[in-house]
Amino acid sequence: PAPGWSIDADVVVVGSGVAGLTAALRCEAAGLRTVVVTKARLDDGSTRWAQGGIAAALGEGDTPEQHLDDTLVAGVGLCDEEAVRILVTEGPDAVRRLIATGAHFDESEAGDLELTREGGHHRRRIAHAGGDATGAEISRALVEAVRARGLRTIENALVLDLLTDAEGRTAGVTLHVMGEGQHDGVGAVHAPAVVLATGGMGQVFSATTNPSVSTGDGVALALRAGAEVSDLEFVQFHPTVLFLGADAEGQQPLVSEAVRGEGAHLVDADGVRFMVGQHELAELAPRDIVAKGITRRMQERDAEHMFLDARHFGADMWEHRFPTILAACRAHGIDPVAEPIPIAPAAHYASGGVRTDSRGRTTVPGLYACGEVACTGVHGANRLASNSLLEGLVYAERIVTDILAARDDDGLHARVPAPVEQPERPAHPLLAPEARFAIQRIMTQGAGVLRSAESLAQAADRLQQLHTDARDALAENGKTAEPGVDTWEATNLLCVARVLVAAALRRDETRGCHWREDRPDRDDTAWRRHIVVRLNPDRT
Ligand code: SIN
Repeated sequence: PAPGWSIDADVVVVGSGVAGLTAALRCEAAGLRTVVVTKARLDDGSTRWAQGGIAAALGEGDTPEQHLDDTLVAGVGLCDEEAVRILVTEGPDAVRRLIATGAHFDESEAGDLELTREGGHHRRRIAHAGGDATGAEISRALVEAVRARGLRTIENALVLDLLTDAEGRTAGVTLHVMGEGQHDGVGAVHAPAVVLATGGMGQVFSATTNPSVSTGDGVALALRAGAEVSDLEFVQFHPTVLFLGADAEGQQPLVSEAVRGEGAHLVDADGVRFMVGQHELAELAPRDIVAKGITRRMQERDAEHMFLDARHFGADMWEHRFPTILAACRAHGIDPVAEPIPIAPAAHYASGGVRTDSRGRTTVPGLYACGEVACTGVHGANRLASNSLLEGLVYAERIVTDILAARDDDGLHARVPAPVEQPERPAHPLLAPEARFAIQRIMTQGAGVLRSAESLAQAADRLQQLHTDARDALAENGKTAEPGVDTWEATNLLCVARVLVAAALRRDETRGCHWREDRPDRDDTAWRRHIVVRLNPDRT
């Protein structure tokens, strides 16, 4: 539908996690008219669920070079080394600026940052807050800063599509807003710069650590806008997610890697530490190796889950260091002080996303992406633990630098966006909200931790059928599901799932978090490269 209202801005930031709010605060501080739009409430994204922390070379003896080495090893040959170098060298100061913005991290009695370890890190370099509530603290600090500085925000605003001008440059976004007074219904924010910071797509699978809002909206928008998307096959499965039953659906409680970083052991039902001997770092091997180790042991033992044993921490340490995880376990009738925690891998993080350069620019002029929605090249085939909050911070700041430079250099971002005539496009076939669950089941069965050409081909067929049904219903009788958040979310999930499965089918090897049972080896000759996708915007 045509927008019923519009507002003008210099920058519109879509999303309100660490990446979005950092970008918005820096834009506002530089004097840009900034509007933040977010699908639910300001603090409802993934950031607030982050537990372990934020990785940066802040400890004595640690260096960006060592952080770079660990990141490159985890990324299994597909990281963009320059992008990683930027991350690790600019990271420490970005964390200090976050602290200056108001986030409180845990400190020793001497006043130094307390640092922990996680999988793939050879050093203690993860700063944390509230024990295991790092994301919640970062979110609190940023949301408070946004409110204190009076930034213009529109909540409950689902982003629909990118607006472009006659030259194909970004001119804003359309939104579907619910219950926000003057900005209700379908409207538009006109702006020459759009920063996508919409987070991930974990909801494409049945069980995930991601909140229900993580439905790939930013990647779907970028695909519809003709932007390039890369590395979608690399979905990271977190090794230790509280196991609540084989048919548990939706967001599942995370048990942070930091629990292993502080000495917890992965054991099977007989108490055997099965990661010992599989990797020099045992339980602290990179995440893909641990997730595979757990999955393999589950297969060997015909078990639905394994266990994380941290009884030796004792009650005091559990209460002070991991209060969030302790509470989540107890809420589900498990006492980690007295018994091992049942765990299994679940979808956690999209290492790929909307392709950007080192300034956060996508392939559509004026459209930027940062945070989980982006593929800056820092994660390669598998993200190193706790690099994601850092990536959000560092690349958000780089985007603002670019917007300001472009404004000064060529006046591009200083222009007042003219109302734009969008080319007539066929109506988009929307999926009924229930399709979300069908997509999740298809993806879990066919494109989960373990994949094969056969399972992926079946998934592709079933996803195609959902798409064909929706398209035919629209073509034959003009019928499509009622536009609304649930229908757009289901539609976006289908869009990203189809691209993800196609990429996973194409990548005929095992690498990082992409595990093909039928192609168990890495193929550096054919596959040390990226799968980049761009859709024709005129096709639905
Ligand atoms: C965790 O706390 O284990 C999550 C860290 C991450 O995903 O980077």
